[in-house]
Amino acid sequence: MSEDYTVRAKLISLVIKYYRGSLEFTADDVPPMSWAIQEQFLSMTVYNSKLLQYPVNKNFNRLFFKKLIAFLKTEEIHDDFYTFLCSVMSDPKDAFSFVHYVVDNDITKTIIIRQTNSMVVNGTTGLKTWEAALMLADWALCNPQVFKRKNIWELGSGVGFTGIAIAKFCEPSALCLTDHHRTVLDIICRNIEINLPNMDKETNELVTIYKTNNATIKTLLLDWEYIDDDVTDLTPDVIIGADIVYDPSILQPLCNVFQTYFKKNSQLEIYIESVIRNPDTFKMFVQLLEHSGYKCESLPQPLPVHIHWDRFNERCLLKITK
Ligand SMILES: C[S@@+](CC[C@H](N)C(=O)[O-])C[C@H]1O[C@@H](n2cnc3c(N)ncnc32)[C@H](O)[C@@H]1O
Repeated sequence: MSEDYTVRAKLISLVIKYYRGSLEFTADDVPPMSWAIQEQFLSMTVYNSKLLQYPVNKNFNRLFFKKLIAFLKTEEIHDDFYTFLCSVMSDPKDAFSFVHYVVDNDITKTIIIRQTNSMVVNGTTGLKTWEAALMLADWALCNPQVFKRKNIWELGSGVGFTGIAIAKFCEPSALCLTDHHRTVLDIICRNIEINLPNMDKETNELVTIYKTNNATIKTLLLDWEYIDDDVTDLTPDVIIGADIVYDPSILQPLCNVFQTYFKKNSQLEIYIESVIRNPDTFKMFVQLLEHSGYKCESLPQPLPVHIHWDRFNERCLLKITK
């Protein structure tokens, strides 16, 4: 492998870490950075037009550039590294910022998500992208035929990463992203508009609808605890959910939601991706599904393919059918 190729590969990998908001790099991951390579790094990151429009978290910027500069001991450090670092020192506490998730290690193929870094904000866990959302989106990109020309519903969409990835790359005919939290739904709408611009928009109290010639994307206020048969006249072919099995008190309501939609479509397929933090809660969920007469199949997902996720998490992707 030529030296130029290795430098380029390390540079791209560092840029992707920056996009993803990851500080997981060591001195070995940083290529020798001549003045020209530093300029390339800056133009791909902080001076990139998308990053200027949708900037990443200031606190992350501060930590990333400090760490990077510390690894550049032997090189002359570009003035713009310091200028940029000073600019992000002034106001480190922005609650919302943008993460640029890179697909297929191609920095021209990103999903840009406005979100917080915090696990719980305004009483909801839905204002950040959870690891299970990345895993489920990756699986969807590996299996687009499951979603192509289908009517897809997502439960507990949070900031909308998985649904938006499916809308962008899997050609569903209709997609409905749901959540029970009003602020979460507002952020989903913003993220749809960033990633799927130029769609016609109609909105009322419960639903926002985006339309193109080929597809419809909806956001809908839907609470699993107050589901009734009339929530929609449309019947989903596929229901998905990422990181929604974490609280024992919502397991029965979730099963009730499944039951409502199985009644409308006995061929319905449900895919639920979980990071297993509490094995007992997860076991209860599977038992409840089996007692309700549903088939549960755990699908293999050994490694990340199109989207980076942490393969060391204990996880399960369940396919639920009748
Ligand atoms: C841990 S977050 C996961 C968000 C997103 N799926 C992800 O993986 O990034 C759980 C989501 O479920 C939603 N949620 C919790 N209880 C709910 C309920 N009873 N009805 C509908 N959504 C609910 C929360 O608002 C939140 O968006």
